[in-house]
Amino acid sequence: MRTVRIGLLGLGVVGSAVAKAMLDDRGMADRSGVRLELAKVAVRDLSKRRVVNLPAGLLTTDPAEVVNDPNIEVVVELMGGEHPAFDLISSALSSGKHVVTANKEVLAKRGDALLAAAAEAGKRLVYEASVGGGIPILNPISDDLLANRIESVRAIINGTTNYILTRMSSEGAAYDAVLADAQQLGYAEADPTADVDGFDALYKIAILGRLAFGASAPVDVIHREGIGRIDARDFRYADELGFTIKLIAAAQRTADGLLLRVHPSLIPLDVPMASVNGAMNMVEVVGDLVGPLWLQGAGAGPSPTASAVLGDVLRVARGIDGPGPSGSASIAAIPVAPMSGHVCQYYIRLTAADRPGVLARIAKVLGDAAISIRSVIQMDTDATSGSADLVIMTHSALEANMQEAASRLRGLDVVVELDNLIRVESYGPTA
Ligand code: NAP
Ligand code: HSE
Repeated sequence: MRTVRIGLLGLGVVGSAVAKAMLDDRGMADRSGVRLELAKVAVRDLSKRRVVNLPAGLLTTDPAEVVNDPNIEVVVELMGGEHPAFDLISSALSSGKHVVTANKEVLAKRGDALLAAAAEAGKRLVYEASVGGGIPILNPISDDLLANRIESVRAIINGTTNYILTRMSSEGAAYDAVLADAQQLGYAEADPTADVDGFDALYKIAILGRLAFGASAPVDVIHREGIGRIDARDFRYADELGFTIKLIAAAQRTADGLLLRVHPSLIPLDVPMASVNGAMNMVEVVGDLVGPLWLQGAGAGPSPTASAVLGDVLRVARGIDGPGPSGSASIAAIPVAPMSGHVCQYYIRLTAADRPGVLARIAKVLGDAAISIRSVIQMDTDATSGSADLVIMTHSALEANMQEAASRLRGLDVVVELDNLIRVESYGPTA
């Protein structure tokens, strides 16, 4: 049986799970026909306690020892971040090694250059674990679904935020406490603002946009909102209206190009995505031949991510070629469409003065922006301040018009606060 020597960059949450799964005798060599040998592991701090027992002498604080080791065939980058990961992946490729990574940030920001470097070096750069944790999604898109023109991808693609939103919704749990649990469980990024502010989901949708549509989108042109404005009232009101709230990342073809967006959305309670809870993710892919597909599974956490990383390592170690995620360069490029052209229904929650004539003034602002109201419900009232929560559901409206109307609503003297503006995901014909 062939032995393939592996160098690991990083032994944190994911790196430890990958190392452990390689070192434990789990029958992986028998199933795959190749034996993986862990040859060297780079970390920052040699004195840190590790959750995996490595054979002596494997640890180094010098990543160059991994990327320059002539006996290492595959480098697995699990450090995270853009720097020094970009330089290390580039060096590994140029020194003749295949690279497997779970690093969505470096792929979203510098993926074009890295894929070009891999092509030039004639080496594989594969990154299944960067999107959707344990869910096989990139390899299916670039292999099993290759006959399809992908029409749209829409996903719950960040485990940490889905875990937080699920617990806020089901238990009324406090945001900070739930975030700490997500960190403890190994779901969150080293800097968890990447999760809660939507950057992690943005990196993932940028990767999917490049792979499935050939869109090379600078990360700062992608529309991004995090979950910071969602509060317990939004869950309660959404539920009364037949919805739940999820952080959604989407890529869809429009007349102006590929629209990429990340933001919280109201999801009808009767569609599959509404029941994706905790750190589970779901990716909905619509192909012109296959129609809609839903792939669901653990989107974060050490073991599921190790499953995706090692799947890539074994694919490379067994010399399995085929297009792989690197093959996207051959897809015809598509421009990135502006968010202002997005059309959807909206949920508007505002605190307004509780007196006659207020609703008429709010309705006029919306009407002037060509936004048609579907329903208005007065929810909680506060007798002391003389204000009330109003929840307005609109019919489908243009994003540019909605933003204009939102800004005018904020300027009305009868509006105390425009508390939240949440888009509604459409499933089937829009009203
Ligand atoms: P982590 O726990 O923070 O681990 C990072 C590891 O990299 C640590 O072992 C750290 O060393 C090492 N490291 C960082 N900078 C280094 C440097 N300059 N030189 C040498 N070693 C360095 O991160 P993680 O959660 O395992 O995530 C790793 C990657 O997987 C990230 O790209 C992340 O986005 C991605 N990912 C994570 C998940 C998940 O569920 N956590 C899922 C999918 C993808 P020390 O241990 O000595 O500090
Ligand atoms: N922090 C990421 C998440 C890890 O919560 O989804 C998986 O990519």
